[in-house]
Amino acid sequence: MNIFYKLFAQFYDFIDVLYFQDYAKSPRKALLDRISGNEKILDLCTGTATNAIEIAKVKTNVQIVGVDLSDDMLRVAKNKVIRAGLKNISLYRMDAADLRFRNESFDKILLSLVLHELDEALTGKILNEAKRILKPHGEIIITEWEPSRRLLQKLLFLPVHCLEPKTYRDFIKKDLNRYFENYGLKIHRVKHCNYTKVIVLKNINMQRNSLRNGGYDEFYMHWR
Ligand SMILES: C[S@@+](CC[C@H](N)C(=O)[O-])C[C@H]1O[C@@H](n2cnc3c(N)ncnc32)[C@H](O)[C@@H]1O
Repeated sequence: MNIFYKLFAQFYDFIDVLYFQDYAKSPRKALLDRISGNEKILDLCTGTATNAIEIAKVKTNVQIVGVDLSDDMLRVAKNKVIRAGLKNISLYRMDAADLRFRNESFDKILLSLVLHELDEALTGKILNEAKRILKPHGEIIITEWEPSRRLLQKLLFLPVHCLEPKTYRDFIKKDLNRYFENYGLKIHRVKHCNYTKVIVLKNINMQRNSLRNGGYDEFYMHWR
């Protein structure tokens, strides 16, 4: 996997040009809409930090930490952060399956375009780590590919179908409700975007408590 990103780090952001040009319908915008001010955010497997930068530019009060294992992707990310002059992002080389952060330290944890390319054992470790460092009422926000039914989008999506590893074909067939429940996480909301969906997960125990107390989703109104 690291070799793939060594070769493609310089071209990785082409994905946004190909698939997410319509910003209003892009998962980048959907993620941004889910963030409120003053939050501590972790962008796990940040890659070239596109999500982290987008959020840091607009929500200037948030603090964002991005971690990734690939030096090549992190190099591109660091150059982008410097060029944008952003002070509220820090980037670290770290394994998402073995994080050096304290329990319950982040309000939101992002995992964007990652799970489908890893084997099940590794995704399990990453989700357990994300749950450990998530604050009790926090959210894990997943972005994943969602093949379109429209012919033109299907054709444009062919390169992803061909280039992604076998784990991708297994992942898109999964019953995601059941899959995330295995890790004590409950799907709270889903937003369908161009080529992708953005899934908001909460800790099952916290969600049960909130429903028992007649709680409501304070972000609901912002999520259209
Ligand atoms: C497809 S890129 C996604 C980048 C970014 N999140 C986005 O939305 O564009 C996947 C990234 O996951 C990183 N990655 C894979 N396994 C990892 C691990 N165990 N720990 C940290 N990063 C990892 C890869 O190096 C790569 O940069």
